[in-house]
Amino acid sequence: MTRHATEFVQPLTFEALSGNPVVVGMFDRPDYSKIEHISLARQADLLLVAPATANILAKFAHGIADDFLTTLYLSNTRPVLIAPAMNVEMWNHPATRANLEILRERGHYFVNPGVGYQACGEVGEGRLAEPEDIVHQALHLLQRKLETGPDLAGEHILITAGPTVEDLDPVRFITNRSSGKMGYALAEAARDRGARVTLISGPVRIAPPAGVETVSVRSTRQMYDAVMSRVGDSSVFIGCAAVADFRPASPAVQKIKKLGRQSITIELEATEDIIGSVARDPQRNSRIVVGFAAESQSLLDNAETKLREKSLDLIVANDITREGAGFDVDNNVATILRRDGSRIELPLQSKRDLAEKVLDEIVGTIKQGRTASVSAQVTDQ
Ligand code: PMT
Repeated sequence: MTRHATEFVQPLTFEALSGNPVVVGMFDRPDYSKIEHISLARQADLLLVAPATANILAKFAHGIADDFLTTLYLSNTRPVLIAPAMNVEMWNHPATRANLEILRERGHYFVNPGVGYQACGEVGEGRLAEPEDIVHQALHLLQRKLETGPDLAGEHILITAGPTVEDLDPVRFITNRSSGKMGYALAEAARDRGARVTLISGPVRIAPPAGVETVSVRSTRQMYDAVMSRVGDSSVFIGCAAVADFRPASPAVQKIKKLGRQSITIELEATEDIIGSVARDPQRNSRIVVGFAAESQSLLDNAETKLREKSLDLIVANDITREGAGFDVDNNVATILRRDGSRIELPLQSKRDLAEKVLDEIVGTIKQGRTASVSAQVTDQ
């Protein structure tokens, strides 16, 4: 605990509840046979800081070591997981954003704060994440044996998420039920694994993930333009958005009137095939292109066809008829199809867990590609 934390809760409370000693000051428990911050750092598998204030983020970012926690941080060599909590304006302050950026670039992991009513009475982003989510993420990191470090460091991953919206007239539109949850989970997981992430998002109700460049779009054409202008320096493209395949050929400038008609016909035209354009880009080189397929019938056959026709490296086929999976829910169930015809069946799980599995597969594909190109170079010589 920091000294400030003890103003809120007594160390004795934590000692009694956890059955473990609480360290606050550098010199509280002098055991001259060992230097406590070094010995604690060497015992740890993970350094979890929760709640992390704007002040602690700033000290971590700039290497200030003026108390036990900040000294422990500097001597720690294990993965660091941070759960920030602060007032919404402090969270949004450019100084805090810059510090977050530094810590993310350093490869630290975050459990993002939630949005809601805050202790200060204001409403917004900055509430400490739910304890269950923090524990879940800590266990997840420990399970993934992150000793090897963030495995997507150096990659630039471009992800599309959410629905696209096609206007019929100034008040009506065609869209779908995508909430963006799957695509945002991918963006957060890729960011936490060290990638630079650009998220092109249709209209959703989720806050943009911190540390991810998020571009908001509405129509398929806007999503296409946003993707094509940024895909150039990306090494991985993931098309998770539920993109409209058709749009009204001539959207009405004025609100369409009923005028006593019992039916009307609206002509639709095909939209841009975003993922197909990314995959067919002559400058694609070694870029990995991953698609999603949301199917209500013949799941694997339809996904296989999309994999081949759109020249994808991988496709994640989700069965949207499964209860509790697919659109606008927190969980998903999927099969990942590879180009060589092999498949990985994944059971129903949280979208974050599924995102990690998809990224594991992408890491495997990157490694294979690099091994293949090294052996090709050796053969050339
Ligand atoms: O957002 P959530 O509520 O969390 O739901 C997640 C999801 C179900 C939307 C997601 O998991 C998913 O399956 N996304 C793809 C949905 C889809 O519409 O797939 P599709 O079969 O129509 O398209 C196949 C692929 O082509 C997709 O990668 C899609 O992004 C891409 N596509 C499609 C049409 C188009 N014009 N351009 C594209 O790039």
